[in-house]
Amino acid sequence: MSPLSEHLQARQAQVDAALDRLTPPESTVPATIHKAMRYSLFAGGKRIRPVLCLDAAAAVSEMATGALEAACSLEMIHTYSLIHDDLPALDNDDYRRGKPTNHKVFGEAMAILAGDSLLTLAFRNLARIAGLDAERKVALIEELSTASGTDDGMIGGQVIDIESERLPPTAELLAQIHRAKTGALLRASVRMGAICGGADAGKFEAISQYGEHVGLAFQIVDDILDVEESSEALGKTAGKDAAQGKITFPAVYGLEVSRTMAADECAKAHAALALFGDRALRLHQIADLIVHRKS
Ligand code: IPE
Ligand code: IPE
Ligand code: MG
Ligand code: MG
Ligand code: MG
Repeated sequence: MSPLSEHLQARQAQVDAALDRLTPPESTVPATIHKAMRYSLFAGGKRIRPVLCLDAAAAVSEMATGALEAACSLEMIHTYSLIHDDLPALDNDDYRRGKPTNHKVFGEAMAILAGDSLLTLAFRNLARIAGLDAERKVALIEELSTASGTDDGMIGGQVIDIESERLPPTAELLAQIHRAKTGALLRASVRMGAICGGADAGKFEAISQYGEHVGLAFQIVDDILDVEESSEALGKTAGKDAAQGKITFPAVYGLEVSRTMAADECAKAHAALALFGDRALRLHQIADLIVHRKS
């Protein structure tokens, strides 16, 4: 196994153990909701947002506080966004993380509530971080709520994504959707890590730039994979974007230009890390991974 794969596996194990600790057990009353939350949380996500948070914290400082809890909160918000994204009223998907979607197993009512409860739990976790001063907790809460929100955050992006189905795919709409629906949470992932590491203004700005570029690269690649890969490889239904008339990078620019744009964003992400030197090795590797992944 390569050193990067070992690093990622160790990070994923660390995140899974913390998510388990921070989420009520299945047996907690009412059991159905805790089963539904855990079903999607532990269905096999790649944990890219938590890894970005932890490695951004490590790039800033060896003594970061609360980065693991922040990483878990990011994964809870992300998982909630996927459960709701798959609902019949949104993308209407039957397959996610290699398994039937949450509403297919638990029904729509419970899937809506499982999403709601992961959203709520994410913020309880941040409020409970031990050993972190109140000012930084508030900064984390502001960061995560803004990135998940309606004004240029995840929900805002989802709204435009849904409202522009089957509209002419323009570059303006595309940029607006992708920056908000996916980019915002990826950018917040590294910014929250940087907050836990106590980054100064210069480092915070550099990490933010990196996050913006990897965030955009991530969704360009998500759109390309939807066209090029099989449902088995992705663990989610392939080919859905074209079927639903979504505004995607391949729809606006074609596959070839989309690939070039992803590589371009990746190069900008690398450049943004200059002032971290060797400390940002993992962040450099993750940027490459985001562009070269096959699922
Ligand atoms: C998929 O995200 C949804 C998007 C925001 C594009 P991921 O590709 O990170 O999904 P998981 O967490 O690995 O399932
Ligand atoms: C979803 O984007 C982004 C979210 C906020 C969940 P997509 O609809 O492209 O995600 P997939 O392709 O279903 O994972
Ligand atoms: Mg969607
Ligand atoms: Mg979808
Ligand atoms: Mg997609």
